[in-house]
Amino acid sequence: MKNIKKTLKADTPVLHFKNTALIYDYIEGKRAVDIKELLILRGENVVILGPNGSGKSSFINLITRKRYPELKTVPVVFDIFGREDWHIFELKSHMGIISPELQFAFLSSELGDISVFDNILSGYFSSIGIWREEVTDAMKKKAEETLGFLGIAHLKNRSMSAISTGEARLALIARALAHEPDTLLLDEPTSGLDIKAAARLRKILSGIAKAGTSIILVTHDLEDIIPEIKRVVLFKEGRIFKDGEIENTLTTKNLSELYGADIKLIREKTGYRAEVK
Ligand SMILES: Nc1ncnc2c1ncn2[C@@H]1O[C@H](COP(=O)(O)OP(=O)(O)O)[C@@H](O)[C@H]1O
Ligand SMILES: [Mg+2]
Repeated sequence: MKNIKKTLKADTPVLHFKNTALIYDYIEGKRAVDIKELLILRGENVVILGPNGSGKSSFINLITRKRYPELKTVPVVFDIFGREDWHIFELKSHMGIISPELQFAFLSSELGDISVFDNILSGYFSSIGIWREEVTDAMKKKAEETLGFLGIAHLKNRSMSAISTGEARLALIARALAHEPDTLLLDEPTSGLDIKAAARLRKILSGIAKAGTSIILVTHDLEDIIPEIKRVVLFKEGRIFKDGEIENTLTTKNLSELYGADIKLIREKTGYRAEVK
């Protein structure tokens, strides 16, 4: 098992994007993402918040190298952990990636019908299911530990296709965490979950952050913002509209401007909520 903490230098930023733009349709020419500069340092917990269609998932597609930035005459930087040339399989051992699309692709695949435990173990080989790979005792031990940490040890032998959406999301988080990644990147982590499952997941994300894995949370839902997150980047039409400390950036004024509506931000003990007036 790789120990990634040994391979990443502590002072290497998690992410550095500069002049990073993404165009899907060159005929139309609209930029789904257009970032002048974004720097996320190691150890930071950040929320990328923006309305539907503001470019959040496209931004993730750039991180995961599913898409590449537009090359312009100005220098383009799109480094993850100080490097441009990542292969997604390698990146995943440093940055766990969780998205509803991934969950859908995983569970709708013919191979999705494996046990929760095999799902975690197969993550080490970037496969779905265990075939000829050599699973070590250390991998099994880590997988068991991760199940326990997430409170889903009882699901170990259940089939991935026979557990609830919330449980499957936790199982995919377990798959990502078993690598001991530096950072966890989550796209709309509570989408499709009921109130209780969403609240449980948010508590678990808090626990993950407290245990030292950084969180980059991408969401449109203010309620997803866990207390460990101190920085917010507001995305508007693919651009960074504001970037700063939550305390003075997540405001009624900025949210109203971001959504183009009369929005009131409500801070509660448990987190944030918004009301449309
Ligand atoms: N595969 C695609 N091809 C063309 N346009 C796309 C594609 N994916 C997203 N878009 C467009 O890019 C913009 C940003 O979308 P997206 O990144 O999914 O936003 P968000 O995740 O914030 O809801 C939208 O205008 C969307 O229609
Ligand atoms: Mg999205």
